[in-house]
Amino acid sequence: MAPSNTSEAAETPRLIAALQNGFQNAVIVVAGGMGGIGKAVCDQAAQLGACVIAASRSGAELDKAELPSRGQIATAKLDVTEPASIRAFADWLKTEAGCLDILVNSAGLTRSVPLGELAHLDDALIDLVTAANHTGVLRLVRDLYPLLRAGHAPVIVNISSVAARTGIGSNIAYVGAKAAVDAISVSLAKALAPSIRVVSIAPSALETDFAKGRPQDFFDKTLRATPLKRLASVDEVADAVLCAARLLPMTTGAVITVDGGRSL
Ligand SMILES: NC(=O)c1ccc[n+]([C@@H]2O[C@H](COP(=O)([O-])OP(=O)(O)OC[C@H]3O[C@@H](n4cnc5c(N)ncnc54)[C@H](OP(=O)(O)O)[C@@H]3O)[C@@H](O)[C@H]2O)c1
Repeated sequence: MAPSNTSEAAETPRLIAALQNGFQNAVIVVAGGMGGIGKAVCDQAAQLGACVIAASRSGAELDKAELPSRGQIATAKLDVTEPASIRAFADWLKTEAGCLDILVNSAGLTRSVPLGELAHLDDALIDLVTAANHTGVLRLVRDLYPLLRAGHAPVIVNISSVAARTGIGSNIAYVGAKAAVDAISVSLAKALAPSIRVVSIAPSALETDFAKGRPQDFFDKTLRATPLKRLASVDEVADAVLCAARLLPMTTGAVITVDGGRSL
């Protein structure tokens, strides 16, 4: 049917406008932004006109890193397992941008240790997995909080995992770390409201570099236990991150699964 008048025809649908306006010129930090999920988030946010900082261990040294312009992605060094690195990154961002609109915590690492093989869960692995997936998130939020308070419609999106709910994951320390991320997301959502929203996105297993060496049997079992009978793509997880950031203004403290029903 033909539109009744030209102004109606030209009007951008509200949801599309919310996405476009929500990311235009927004300063967004994606910890782990060069990994599978993180890169998909960075690419889409840049396409929508954000100034995107992909922060991880292999990012540019802070004395050489620069704030990207609109629609661009820059890298910056950040090791979430090192409190001094987190502080240095927060200081750099304060100097370069003075504010932060969207923080996506997608950094993380793990190693496969069958859940029953407790003897193989050594201290170094427990500490590293906990720091990379949980305490690093808390420290980064703490140190970036003043910048988020100065941001526009600030939001924190934490990537957790359905492992937090199913109890099945690459190892028990990882399961605990992701459950802790979901728990602090609820706590932060209460503590930082009404100015800052906090959302957890919980994917199930994806085919990224994340848990290298997972046997084919693992993926076969996951598919059998997944009602939708396929794995999510990194773009589908990134879509959920972007929606949580800018399309769900009344959602905070929630865990949104992107798992094809794996956790049911
Ligand atoms: N892939 C899955 O199956 C899956 C399922 C559920 C949840 N998740 C979660 O999704 C998030 C992203 O996973 P992904 O699949 O995108 O993994 P990925 O491809 O391995 O990317 C993770 C990124 O995190 C960065 N990183 C690792 N340790 C870091 C540290 N100490 N400090 C800063 N950055 C660090 C790495 O970059 P650098 O090497 O440059 O530091 C890496 O590129 C993780 O939190 C993971 O737990 C993944």
